[in-house]
Amino acid sequence: MSGAVTTGADIRIEGLCKTFGEGRRAAKVLRNVSLTVPAGSIACVVGQSGCGKSTFLRVLAGLETTYDGSVLLGKQPLHGPGLDRGVVFQEHRLLPWLTVEQNVAFALKGLSRYETRRCVMRCLKRVGLGSCARQYPYLLSGGMAQRVAIARALVNQPKILLLDEPFGALDALTKLQMQQEILALWEQEKTTLVLVTHDIDEAVFLADRIVVMAPGGAQTVKETIDVALPRPRDRNAAAFIALRKEILSFLFDQEKKLRRKA
Ligand SMILES: Nc1ncnc2c1ncn2[C@@H]1O[C@H](COP(=O)(O)OP(=O)(O)O)[C@@H](O)[C@H]1O
Ligand SMILES: [Mg+2]
Repeated sequence: MSGAVTTGADIRIEGLCKTFGEGRRAAKVLRNVSLTVPAGSIACVVGQSGCGKSTFLRVLAGLETTYDGSVLLGKQPLHGPGLDRGVVFQEHRLLPWLTVEQNVAFALKGLSRYETRRCVMRCLKRVGLGSCARQYPYLLSGGMAQRVAIARALVNQPKILLLDEPFGALDALTKLQMQQEILALWEQEKTTLVLVTHDIDEAVFLADRIVVMAPGGAQTVKETIDVALPRPRDRNAAAFIALRKEILSFLFDQEKKLRRKA
């Protein structure tokens, strides 16, 4: 990572459909997803468990290669995994036999040892872990390990950062801290950020655009909401609470509809 600011790429998705299985066992998980995420903005995808959030993110990461519809990253059609995207999962997925520094360096290729170290240390400092470079993952707390995973995702200066419930396994206080930190990082890096969460509060705190997903029906995305609240956002502000309530009741309604059909 150089000192320069990374510029995000926009994401344009048209009629994305993803089916698992074939014939009578086919399960259509993503139906007709059309969505734009402007360059340098934050989109949060919310929805109940099993509605296809991770599948959606895996498509964007290039990890699911069979789907219908079109996905453009900047001006380029999506084509498998690439260094233009950094991915963070709910579990940190650090390699236990490598140090923190080696884990972050793992994805970097073609740089001299000196350049690699410089780059890795800059990323680790960005997530506040400059002093932990030589530690092994087993010594880290959940929050620290996830910060290393974020540093690893940033090391190639991605234009797009994809996060799948990155704070879902953390305790409540660490989670709040991490939400502030990811926002500070985003403000520095200006990457486009797509974050999947089942935490409505997290989505309202972070997002420029909230994408509400629910299973069933002709379309998986039931609603997209642009959040115009100024940052830093106050979780106790009336507008914040009202938006959280609106999304929650919308999701409850979807759930009720689904139960009635079943
Ligand atoms: N590789 C797969 N093969 C078959 N079904 C899958 C696969 N991955 C996910 N699914 C199914 O797709 C649906 C959506 O899963 P997922 O995207 O993980 O949902 P979410 O992240 O919203 O909880 C689930 O019903 C899940 O069982
Ligand atoms: Mg998931």
